[in-house]
Amino acid sequence: ASPGPSRAALLQWYDGVHAVRGMPWRKPYQHSWDAEEKAQRAYEVWVSEIMLQQTQVATVIPYYNKWMERFPTIRALAASDIDTVNGLWKGLGYYSRAARLLSGAQKAVEEFGGRLPDNAQDMESKIPGIGRYSAGAICSIAYSQCVPVLDGNVHRLMSRLLALHAPPKAKQTLDVLWAGASAFVKDAERPGDVNQALIELGSTVCKVRDPACTSCPLQPWCGAYEQQACAGTQDEGAK
Ligand code: ADE
Repeated sequence: ASPGPSRAALLQWYDGVHAVRGMPWRKPYQHSWDAEEKAQRAYEVWVSEIMLQQTQVATVIPYYNKWMERFPTIRALAASDIDTVNGLWKGLGYYSRAARLLSGAQKAVEEFGGRLPDNAQDMESKIPGIGRYSAGAICSIAYSQCVPVLDGNVHRLMSRLLALHAPPKAKQTLDVLWAGASAFVKDAERPGDVNQALIELGSTVCKVRDPACTSCPLQPWCGAYEQQACAGTQDEGAK
């Protein structure tokens, strides 16, 4: 099915309330950016996405700002060392993330002229610590490429949207969910915003417990919502 109307509803929700929301790593993509500016954005988005992997937005913000002050470019990071990097990471936990940023930056400087690769496939296969999710986030947000993301939040949201009742980690399940996430960004004008809207909708509205379905922009297209309504647990039986 075409994601047209649901994508429009999603972006309208995102633009209305959430587009910037004080997150320093969010800067609207500019078509006028040259390769150097895109590479700088890729670095910023990379740092933010790695920090956000296991840590909440509010906690990440001061760490992100401090990191960018200390390592404004990927070259500055590559020239640092593990003790300095771990020092800046102190309190965030999961320190292997900091080590992966450092070694990824060093590889980018040594082998790719100080830039992350310019497409998701190379990014994922050539930079240690960048997997399919991070490559999708970076390439959609910094390069405006139509590649999907599937993190834990989007996994849950997409499962509900598709009313998929299947083992969550099975390859077949993941294929279906990645395909659903791909449909949302396919030929999108603003793939980075579509992906960030999905991530944010998943974390703030389509929550694990007590999802806020009445304020969800995707409710009209949601299979799980429909099934629940039809089951008539409340007074919905006459619908
Ligand atoms: N969590 C992971 N990526 C994010 C992003 N770009 N914005 C907000 N929360 C996120």
